[in-house]
Amino acid sequence: MEKDILILAIETSCDETAAAVVKNGRSVLSNIISSQIDLHTLYGGVVPEIASRKHIEKINQVIKEALSEADVTLEDIDAIGVTYGPGLVGALLVGVAQAKAISYAAGKPLIGIHHIEGHVSANFIENKDLEPPFLCLIVSGGHTHLVIVKEYGKYEIIGRTRDDAAGEAFDKVARAIGLGYPGGPKVDKLARKGDRHAVEFPRANIEGFPYDFSFSGVKSAVLNYLNSCAMKNEPVNTADIAASFQEAVVDALVTKTIAAAQEYHMDKVAIAGGVAANSALRQAMDAACKEQGINLYYPSPVLCTDNAAMIGAAAYYEYLSGTRHGLDLNAVPNLKIGQR
Ligand code: KG4
Ligand code: ZN
Repeated sequence: MEKDILILAIETSCDETAAAVVKNGRSVLSNIISSQIDLHTLYGGVVPEIASRKHIEKINQVIKEALSEADVTLEDIDAIGVTYGPGLVGALLVGVAQAKAISYAAGKPLIGIHHIEGHVSANFIENKDLEPPFLCLIVSGGHTHLVIVKEYGKYEIIGRTRDDAAGEAFDKVARAIGLGYPGGPKVDKLARKGDRHAVEFPRANIEGFPYDFSFSGVKSAVLNYLNSCAMKNEPVNTADIAASFQEAVVDALVTKTIAAAQEYHMDKVAIAGGVAANSALRQAMDAACKEQGINLYYPSPVLCTDNAAMIGAAAYYEYLSGTRHGLDLNAVPNLKIGQR
């Protein structure tokens, strides 16, 4: 039997300080997440300077907990995986510096991981049979991409957002209807009480680019709708707005994903990133995939939003393919997908 590969993974790209121990890419021995949400809620969004400072305060403890919950020591670890981009530069730097220090002190290989590659790899953890090639819709706070995962770690981007990311649109609309930060889960919850056909918000199609997205139009339409109600002194049903906005976004995401799966002959579709936790998206994608005979994969909600287990899953496959970084690894806030 081959030896198990244990990865200690670290993720600090935004407002979660996270560490995990992952065995053979698919088995999570520990997954510790220290969220800063309460702190940033006071300001209505993530304050980068505060995020970095909190990461520094928490990182040692979070890593210690990850090792102890997995019942392993640094000695047992085969490699350190760390998110080095994209994200907030000050936040990323905390994780990268920590990973380099551990790698140097313990003499373990260092593997820098693309945050979005981590989100995609979250799908491997609970879906033991999922293997490339498959189509993946990545929908997070900073990214909206349709990619073909050709092999582990190899991506072909076939569509992307032209403006706001899907999560960003959720967060902005949440703020406009008074739900505050973090918006996505709050819109999701409120929308369950609303009528998704109450207001017809626009779905953007970009001529010649069938798999590209645009969410600034639907966001503006919501803001205009709210303004016009205010001017006319009409009451606003925020649950209906949340449901109708969500319907417009989900409809665009599902329609384009299914069309891409058909064109590229993909019988496996995965969704990834924070917005993949959205209950309406999961339901609608499920129904559409069933209709087309496509197998749909998505991670549990806790593995959709930022965590280090997904970084450990991605790092395992990078480890197998020989990716190693030196101690000159730096944070790259605008790291491109597929860049090493
Ligand atoms: O992937 P993620 O945790 O961080 C980034 O890499 O950006 O995604 C965060 C985004 C936020 O915009 C948040 O509002 C959104 O994911 N989100 C949701 C839900 N849970 C998180 N959006 C819609 N419905 C949800 N249930
Ligand atoms: Zn993320």
